Amino acid sequence: MHVHTAVVPAAGMGTRFLPATKAVPKELLPIIDTPALQLIIDEAVGAGVDHMVIVTSHAKPAIEAYFQPQPEVIAKLRSSGRDGMADRLEAIGRDVKVSFAYQDQALGLGHAVGCARDAVGDEPFAVLLPDELMGSSSLLDQMARLCELTGGSVVGLKEVPHEQVGAYGVIDPIGTLDEHGVIGIASMVEKPHPDDAPSDLIIIGRYVLTPDVFDEIARVRPGAGGEIQLTDALKAQAARSPFHGVATDVLRHDTGNPFGWLTAVVDIALTDERLGPSLREWLRTKVC
Ligand code: UTP
Repeated sequence: MHVHTAVVPAAGMGTRFLPATKAVPKELLPIIDTPALQLIIDEAVGAGVDHMVIVTSHAKPAIEAYFQPQPEVIAKLRSSGRDGMADRLEAIGRDVKVSFAYQDQALGLGHAVGCARDAVGDEPFAVLLPDELMGSSSLLDQMARLCELTGGSVVGLKEVPHEQVGAYGVIDPIGTLDEHGVIGIASMVEKPHPDDAPSDLIIIGRYVLTPDVFDEIARVRPGAGGEIQLTDALKAQAARSPFHGVATDVLRHDTGNPFGWLTAVVDIALTDERLGPSLREWLRTKVC
């Protein structure tokens, strides 16, 4: 079945970006001039998604405000000949259906995905974590096709140096990566000690999940801090259904912390045709 819905969990408190996130949700922090959330929507649309479900909280009204029309701004842009930007603003929230689901207590990623159940319905869906930016839609597209083919859930993977695995969710593979980067998954473990890690393949923030995951989420017992972990629900799925990963070397940025956000902005700006050349020149004067 075609994957046409994507869930973006955006109800977290963003504590690593305080005090900025007192007023501006982490998901709206700009990557040059575009909110990270918009880049995530563009990635999903590029993979064939036509319905975005954003899981937000009533404490973050700016997320919904981003999708509201702004006729005065658009009129001003048009009267000053800036039609390109006016068209871009008008397309926000119109080029794809956007729904909201609410998670008013940040009870973990599994819980946030569970809050999207009614909006998603009974079909496979994608999940994109908005603090991981991918350079293209190709990974999600490949994952969606694999889910359609196998009828089971699929997670995005990245191979990391062995000593780094302890910071991530790591898969226990069945066999080895094939020529398309696909691998079967028997199980997964959160933040293992490197000596106990079953592989060097970590789960990144892209998932294509079959809808039975909602029942698994409902069965997960809360862990530390009352959090309901998505990994626990995925483990239960992997134990009884086909479950695969797709490894990628597509450029990926973790913008969930200030250093990662800063390096993402610099890296992306260096490839921007308007900003890249002068930024490169300015950086040379700073670092040499
Ligand atoms: P993070 O753990 O990176 O986000 O979750 P956070 O909790 O907001 O950030 P810190 O750690 O306090 O700085 C990844 C994504 O999952 C969402 C977040 O909004 C973020 O986009 N999330 C996380 C939820 O929607 N609900 C949760 O309960 C937890």
